[in-house]
Amino acid sequence: PTHQLWGGRFSGQPHEALQALNNSLPYDARLYSDDLDASKAYAEALKRAGYLNSADCDVIVKSLELIRFDWVERSIKFLPSDEDVHTVNERLLVNITGELGQRLHTGRSRNDQVITDMKLWMRKANRETLGRLRLLIEACVLQAEQHLGILMPGYTHMQRAQTVQFSHWLLSHAFALREDCLRLVELRERSNVMPLGSGALAGNPLGIDRLWLAERLGFSGVTANSMHAVGDRDFVVDFIYCCSLVSLHLSRLAEDLILYSTQEFDFIKLADGFATGSSLMPQKRNPDSLELIRGISGLITSNLTGIMMTIKGTPSTYNKDLQFDKQYCFQAHDKLAQSLDVAVGVVSTMQVQRHQMEAALSTDMLATDWAYYLVRKGVPFRMAHHYIGRVVALAEQRGVGITEVPLGELQQICEAFGADIVSVADYGLNVQQYNVVGGTATVCVLEQLRQLKDFCMGL
Ligand code: ARG
Repeated sequence: PTHQLWGGRFSGQPHEALQALNNSLPYDARLYSDDLDASKAYAEALKRAGYLNSADCDVIVKSLELIRFDWVERSIKFLPSDEDVHTVNERLLVNITGELGQRLHTGRSRNDQVITDMKLWMRKANRETLGRLRLLIEACVLQAEQHLGILMPGYTHMQRAQTVQFSHWLLSHAFALREDCLRLVELRERSNVMPLGSGALAGNPLGIDRLWLAERLGFSGVTANSMHAVGDRDFVVDFIYCCSLVSLHLSRLAEDLILYSTQEFDFIKLADGFATGSSLMPQKRNPDSLELIRGISGLITSNLTGIMMTIKGTPSTYNKDLQFDKQYCFQAHDKLAQSLDVAVGVVSTMQVQRHQMEAALSTDMLATDWAYYLVRKGVPFRMAHHYIGRVVALAEQRGVGITEVPLGELQQICEAFGADIVSVADYGLNVQQYNVVGGTATVCVLEQLRQLKDFCMGL
């Protein structure tokens, strides 16, 4: 008999061009373990429904374990007729158990089988991704904690804006990653619903206890509509979206760090392990690690558009187009994992250049604080903003800093200026004024650190 699962009504094998396109083993083989887990549970469900006796069920379950061993040992040889991981596992089972193995697929379709496998796989992938995110948040927290109190120019539009703490800046990236974690946790809970028992599309007519199966496989519930279940890949889109967003966050962090590691900025220095040299210019130290992180986000995000384009226009229930979901999903996951590993390495080993950051502060960055000084003297903010603007223009004209404009001249611009304006010249003190929740004052940055640490502990 043919190894093909569906050979009965066919007179020959599929054309080899079709076999080549149809063969998903190169990318779905990694589902072997989830496929075996789901099959073991399904065999037990068949026993409970009266379609397998206890002894036969035991033989199937033990044989599936033997097959797992062969996968681990890499001793499985694929045949040209093997279409996908499900076909291989079933062929191997029939090799071991003969006619008995042919009973396992009773009432089941690869349509409900493959998404059950995918969901089992994704549960692990989700946890793994969360683990990596946690490591990166912790690396940010550690650097922020060790370098608390270091000042740096904060930028908007890449223009010097206001003084902030280095830790405040670094944690701004960590908080984006925290949101990513929350998204993954939410997705894990929402998608942990079992499709098995949906059959090809109509459901299962053999009295399979889906609730029991779901519990056995660690799902928190069962899908409510079999036709929806077999055609649904939204959970894959969601996962790839989560991966894409993480990759964009890593890309933005990388962009900041690339800039800050230039000789012109010199705010941070990459460790040797995360920098590379030039084959031509002996002096070069290139931030390839960060450029790769920035670049790979394009590839990861392309998987999101890829899967969405694949789903678009497919009619209801299962269609073979959906087989490609795995390539997008696995690539997004794998590339993100590599990217996260590098990001953790970069952040935890980078050297923070306190002197260079603080030397980059300039008195124009006090302008906003000067406006607040006038506000505290009773000047309406819009007016204060205007007066300080004039001070900045005057100082610029003379080629000096605003702190060098004599008090008399300041008072000509606005009479609310007093001798105490000199107290608004200290960058460090200015930073401490921003003590609102979320601000850059030390108490607030400490609170951010606490929140992130708590979050990581609870993850
Ligand atoms: N390898 C297939 C996939 O990943 C399994 C489902 C095949 N179903 C079918 N009716 N051909 O989508």
